[in-house]
Amino acid sequence: MKSAQSKITAIVGAQWGDEGKGKITDFFAGQSDYVVRFHGGNNAGHTVIVNNNIFKLHLIPSGVIYESPVSIIGNGVVVDPKALLSEISYLKEKGIEPKLLVSDRCHIIMPYHIELDSALSGHQAELAAGSTGRGIAPVYADKMFRNGIRMIDLLEPDILKQKLEKGYAFAKGIIEKSLNKKMISEPRSIFQDYIDFGIKLKDYVSDTSVELYKAHQNGKSILFEGAQGISLDVDHGIYPYTTSSNTAAGHISTGTGVSFRDIDRIIGVVKAYLSRVGESPLPSEIDGEMAEKIRDVGGEYGTTTGRPRRIGWLDLVQVRQAVRVNGLTEIALTKLDVLNGIKEIPVCIDYEIDGSTVSEMPASLTMYRNAKPVYKTLEGWDSIPDNIWDKGFNALPKEIHNYIDFIEQAVGCSVKIISVGPQRHETIIR
Ligand code: IMP
Repeated sequence: MKSAQSKITAIVGAQWGDEGKGKITDFFAGQSDYVVRFHGGNNAGHTVIVNNNIFKLHLIPSGVIYESPVSIIGNGVVVDPKALLSEISYLKEKGIEPKLLVSDRCHIIMPYHIELDSALSGHQAELAAGSTGRGIAPVYADKMFRNGIRMIDLLEPDILKQKLEKGYAFAKGIIEKSLNKKMISEPRSIFQDYIDFGIKLKDYVSDTSVELYKAHQNGKSILFEGAQGISLDVDHGIYPYTTSSNTAAGHISTGTGVSFRDIDRIIGVVKAYLSRVGESPLPSEIDGEMAEKIRDVGGEYGTTTGRPRRIGWLDLVQVRQAVRVNGLTEIALTKLDVLNGIKEIPVCIDYEIDGSTVSEMPASLTMYRNAKPVYKTLEGWDSIPDNIWDKGFNALPKEIHNYIDFIEQAVGCSVKIISVGPQRHETIIR
């Protein structure tokens, strides 16, 4: 199996997150020596179902469910140590002893980041992205202010104390003076808790860039697991309705210390329709009975927050951008089965904005707010033959072949992996 796989593969989201990356990552993870997260934090939610066992992961790479790969949390990830410890316990309760390394350079989510996240969302009002409330924007902001606390600092009490004093005072100033809220967390107990977290996590902390460099030199295979999706990328997404990290494959290098020159294969995960949890204009959004049906059949409720996801038709303007910005070598198309029985399936191919046809994601918020979907309606299919994964791609209904051809033509990238159910084996490789 191993020889068939490129040495370094990346999997990224090509929409709004929740495309089914967890399942696709899990599919490849068993053939990998390392599975690595490179950005984001416990705002992410990856659901993996193996032999009817459901695993919900937020921070640890999905590969942890396999025995062999080492799971790595790279330096570009922001870590809530309390959430990490509870995820480790969750896995242990399910009989998994995580083989995990956490970069010593990861920035740490502090209680005041979580407080600030909610105060900030209130302040931003209609410009708020509808954050998951995990402290993501404030921790990345502190990183850029050079005000942050890193994993290694939890192992060095004097440095932690010094940094905490400054970081805490800064957050308190913003929360109380700028946003007129009362800060609840208190530095003495934070210090004690975080020293404690450091003691518990110490054995996992490592210079993961060096580990990955050596692994690559020794011919080991590495799988990078993206979180969220292209429209949530802080640079290329629908800013400010984004997350605060780069979700695009370009961030793998800085977020792990592995050069982009070494990445062989970049798989973009595209769901056969669209869902989004959180706020922003969404040109191909639908509501009513059809949206409810898709939400229910697809189980479209946030893994992290449980919020019902907004539903829409596949938006190829978005996927076109994902192909270009990530340099996708192929697409994994997921959840085709959810569309079974829908007679006609509209697909958004362009936007119509103030009388003009627009084929690329606009930077302008005004344009995005005014964007109307231009649809091409494709014929749907009734069902997918039983055990299709044994029969192969050619046994799929012709309408699915047409759906896939259409996507490939419109975005200029091949669909090589097709997922027709949540379980690992419900996958067709073309
Ligand atoms: P934050 O990352 O918690 O700051 O949230 C910013 C935006 O990203 C919100 O609209 C969230 O709903 C969205 N978001 C963050 N993580 C995920 C994810 O893993 N899947 C889908 N949406 C996400």
